[in-house]
Amino acid sequence: MALKSSDTRWGSIAQWLHWLMALAIIGNGILGLIMVDMSRGMTKLNVFAIHKSIGLTVLALLILRVCWRMLDRKPRDEPMPRWQRLAAHATHAVLYLFMLAIPLSGWTYNSAHGNPLQWFKLFNLPALMERNDAISDLARDTHEVLFWILLLILVAHVGGALVHHVFTRDNTLLRMLPFARLRSRNSGDQS
Ligand code: HEM
Ligand code: HEM
Repeated sequence: MALKSSDTRWGSIAQWLHWLMALAIIGNGILGLIMVDMSRGMTKLNVFAIHKSIGLTVLALLILRVCWRMLDRKPRDEPMPRWQRLAAHATHAVLYLFMLAIPLSGWTYNSAHGNPLQWFKLFNLPALMERNDAISDLARDTHEVLFWILLLILVAHVGGALVHHVFTRDNTLLRMLPFARLRSRNSGDQS
């Protein structure tokens, strides 16, 4: 498996970063929704700490991913109508924005609320600002709303990938999957 992407498929670094981050983001969002309803206590504090650490990891992976994306090449788009290509590119750009905005709004909330921040109990991270109740409320609402909007965008993103896989029968999904064999362009079958 090539590390770098080719003209026809994503390389393994881009693939693993995509799936690792997809899992971390969706998993951390679900954890976030569950933890806010937990009863007060040490367990809740520990789950909050894990949520924040996973979120910071997503932020670090995003920086790596964007750097790698600039060094790597991008596979040529599968043949598709122009509107679909534009919609897919716009969705990807918005997804990158959300991968940045969701952790940053969480970090802003945590700072404005006056809570400490550690990465898996290994080291401390600085507050982004002084304590501020108005910003804290705004950042908390933004953090939650952005996650719900992300889920809506993901319906389009995942739906698009599945439509290409099942109906158009092209390589859009397969070329992002590690270990998958690409379909030959002529037959639409496994090659
Ligand atoms: C992948 C990144 C992240 C996702 C998808 C995510 C998602 C969520 C969600 C869905 C909630 C529940 C919101 C609610 O129902 O009120 C939440 C809560 C929270 N998140 Fe995140 N989060 C992420 C990263 C972060 C980061 C990096 C921090 C802090 C450094 C953070 C701090 C918090 C805090 C403190 C809460 C509790 C808010 C409250 O008490 O109402 N999150 N998060
Ligand atoms: C089950 C869930 C998911 C599926 C099936 C999926 C599928 C795909 C596929 C097939 C591609 C490649 C498109 C192409 O080659 O033109 C892709 C790209 C992308 N995906 Fe996902 N994805 C999922 C979840 C996510 C999540 C959770 C995020 C981020 C929040 C995300 C962000 C992206 C981005 C930004 C790209 C564009 C990559 C680039 O051009 O650099 N995906 N996804």
